Amino acid sequence: MEYDNDENTWRRPSIPKVERTTCQQIPKRSTSVAVVVLGLAVLSCLLGYCVLSETLPHESKTLRLVIILFRHGARTPVKTYNSDPYKNYQWPDGFGSLTNVGKLQLYELGKKFRSYYTNFILEDYYEKDVFIRSSDRSRCLMSAYTFLAGLFPPTERQMWHPEMQWQPIPVHALPRELDNIVSSTKPCKVWSEMYKEQLAAHDADPKFTELFDYLTKHTNQTLRSILDTDFLYSTLLTEQEAGLKLPDWTKTVFPSKMRTPFMLSLATLSYNESLQRFQIGPLLKEIRQYFDETAVHSNVDRTLYIYSGHDTTIVSLWRALGFEELIEPEYGASVVLELHEDVENESFFVKTFYRNNSKIEEPIELKPKFCDDPCTYTRFKDHVSKLIPDDWEAECGNTRS
Ligand SMILES: *[C@@H]1O[C@H](CO)[C@@H](O)[C@H](O)[C@H]1NC(C)=O
Ligand SMILES: *[C@@H]1O[C@H](CO)[C@@H](O)[C@H](O)[C@H]1NC(C)=O
Ligand SMILES: *[C@@H]1O[C@H](CO)[C@@H](O)[C@H](O)[C@H]1NC(C)=O
Ligand SMILES: *[C@@H]1O[C@H](CO)[C@@H](O)[C@H](O)[C@H]1NC(C)=O
Repeated sequence: MEYDNDENTWRRPSIPKVERTTCQQIPKRSTSVAVVVLGLAVLSCLLGYCVLSETLPHESKTLRLVIILFRHGARTPVKTYNSDPYKNYQWPDGFGSLTNVGKLQLYELGKKFRSYYTNFILEDYYEKDVFIRSSDRSRCLMSAYTFLAGLFPPTERQMWHPEMQWQPIPVHALPRELDNIVSSTKPCKVWSEMYKEQLAAHDADPKFTELFDYLTKHTNQTLRSILDTDFLYSTLLTEQEAGLKLPDWTKTVFPSKMRTPFMLSLATLSYNESLQRFQIGPLLKEIRQYFDETAVHSNVDRTLYIYSGHDTTIVSLWRALGFEELIEPEYGASVVLELHEDVENESFFVKTFYRNNSKIEEPIELKPKFCDDPCTYTRFKDHVSKLIPDDWEAECGNTRS
């Protein structure tokens, strides 16, 4: 029986290498649970097989690192349009802000991840185990905080106030003009030029002409781009969610005919591999670094990274994984990357999951085309490395002052 009292043995069986038996990786949630688990484990080992590890849901003996990227929760509109009957509507928290519904969505999502990874993510929050990075938009920061409230409610030891079922957990964010990791708002000249070209090509597609004519007429403003359609789509969606009755003219186009150009607009930012290098390359670089650190055991504590971003972040990562299908990531949609270790042959592989909103119970496992099943880390790394500029700044053609 190799199970010892080292807090983290079950998560990192290869460091230090311990002799393996069928019962080595009994998970530990808390001391009291561990005692029960230990007892049961001894019992099941005596019976010759490890019942527990087979029956606990979503437990994996091979899981080593989890990276979660989610979209913020429900928000108010970012802008209005000329003929908008709700132009002067008083949004109590202002434009583009997280609503109470949105706060709850991410809180529930955090709780979902807590139970999904119940045997992987420790109940106690330790700073060394987890790193959270957010886009510097208030709605993303706030989404990260409510997600963390659901993921890490204070354990008894961590209660610091008798009434507060909440503990402070740091969320890091780069200022928007420096963020090329989550919000992709750091200026990049080469990307901007390529994006404009790609956008113009999509805008000129004759299949949208009729829609643009219709929208221009009814919004009482020039609307001839999938990008404007994107903004209008989001505005109508948020107004509808707030219980406002949309004008009759929207009935024939929203969401139906507007949905494709809306999704295409999100996809245009990272439409092909050249655009992806700039748009999502820096995030892929971080992911590669974290996977590498785990693979060479140089950062054995860090087992969870969390990113709080936008629909565009989700779509860009999705496309960088080789998926071309247009998607609409709803509030709290998430992409999860898991790094697994095959202890038998000391190799690593990657699993990828997608949940298109915060309510999804069972994620869809994605099967990237660039690798087999299982997707070896070597193959994964080869693919993402093609999308990572050595020197982002220089490749962007940004002149350093
Ligand atoms: C359309 O916009 C123009 C100028 O912005 C304004 O004068 C006009 O009243 C608007 N028409 C409607 C129907 O909103
Ligand atoms: C991606 O699209 C841009 C804009 O249309 C273009 O300049 C670039 O060459 C394309 N890259 C690839 C790899 O197709
Ligand atoms: C390692 O194990 C995985 C999963 O069992 C298998 O797919 C892979 O081929 C193995 N690799 C080697 C080098 O044996
Ligand atoms: C989200 O995913 C579920 C199933 O996983 C699917 O039924 C639903 O249509 C999807 N919604 C959108 C907007 O793609």
